Amino acid sequence: MSNLSDSLLFWYEKNKRKLPWRRIKDLNNPYFIWISEIMLQQTNVNTVIRYYKQFIKKWPTIEKLANAKLDDVLFIWQGLGYYNRAINAHKSAKIICKDFNGKFPSSTERLLKLPGVGKYTANAICSIAFNKRTIGIDVNVKRVISRIFNLDINDEKKIEKTCLEVLPYRNNADFMQAIMDVGSSICTKKKINCSICPLIKDCNYKIPKNDQKTLFKKKYKRRFSYIYLMQWKNKIFLKKRNKTKLLNGLMEIPGTEWSESKLSTNIAKTIAPVKLNWKVVPGTLAYNISNCKLEVNFLRAKINRKINIKNGKWIKQNKIQDLPLSTLTKKILDRLSLS
Ligand code: ADE
Repeated sequence: MSNLSDSLLFWYEKNKRKLPWRRIKDLNNPYFIWISEIMLQQTNVNTVIRYYKQFIKKWPTIEKLANAKLDDVLFIWQGLGYYNRAINAHKSAKIICKDFNGKFPSSTERLLKLPGVGKYTANAICSIAFNKRTIGIDVNVKRVISRIFNLDINDEKKIEKTCLEVLPYRNNADFMQAIMDVGSSICTKKKINCSICPLIKDCNYKIPKNDQKTLFKKKYKRRFSYIYLMQWKNKIFLKKRNKTKLLNGLMEIPGTEWSESKLSTNIAKTIAPVKLNWKVVPGTLAYNISNCKLEVNFLRAKINRKINIKNGKWIKQNKIQDLPLSTLTKKILDRLSLS
């Protein structure tokens, strides 16, 4: 074992974050590790914890997940975003139960064949769940390794090669998660705290003059949309998102695509899904998601006769909360006093 992994593992033993997927008895449970890694793909640790606990409580085994209804999986996933992850996890659970007799594959090649599992996730599962001599290289690992060895952060090949050179021959699961913890608490993108870093002896990083002060300001894109609220008796019209990368399978109030500039009310009325007597609902809703600042405007139409529209349903207002909804849809319903 190199000095680097020695000091890192020693530090990790005392300082590791206590995360629900890190309980010792789960270490060899690839199902738990897989679910945590899928949830962590685009979401930060603090948000994932609650969803992970709920998910594992509801489906404690891969067989239970394979037999679950997709709508129930989406229901638990609502608010976590990137819903294709849930759809793919459900599909993968079925594949593992059918093709592998419920036994989780332990090779990168086999894992990569599962829907929703890319190179990072396959390597992370092999490392954390099966303790194989491999490592999932996420942004934290990339940043820490590139700084220690003074590598170009964009040179992925070099970073991967270096990672493989410094991996220990035992304890890979801890090694990978220890680097992640250093990257998320000590050697972050915005702040570097060398005085408490276990890797300081091995580190070649020279902090650029302004680096400690430079806060990497997020650049937001602004996007605009109109939402069309159709009301008939005590029901509102919701449509199901289909074949979309984001929020696939969730129900939502119909709306325009997100545009880079604000649409005029007249244009919004012209391109409405149905010609109705649309009225403007005063005010807007602002919502930030990843690097976008969204502004939602509303048109409302009350109708006295049911109309049929493709890919959607009329839902009783008091039943809406039972459906899988995105956080944005929930906020829209709140804003329209419909929740
Ligand atoms: N991000 C991705 N995987 C992680 C893990 N196992 N622990 C903490 N953060 C992570």
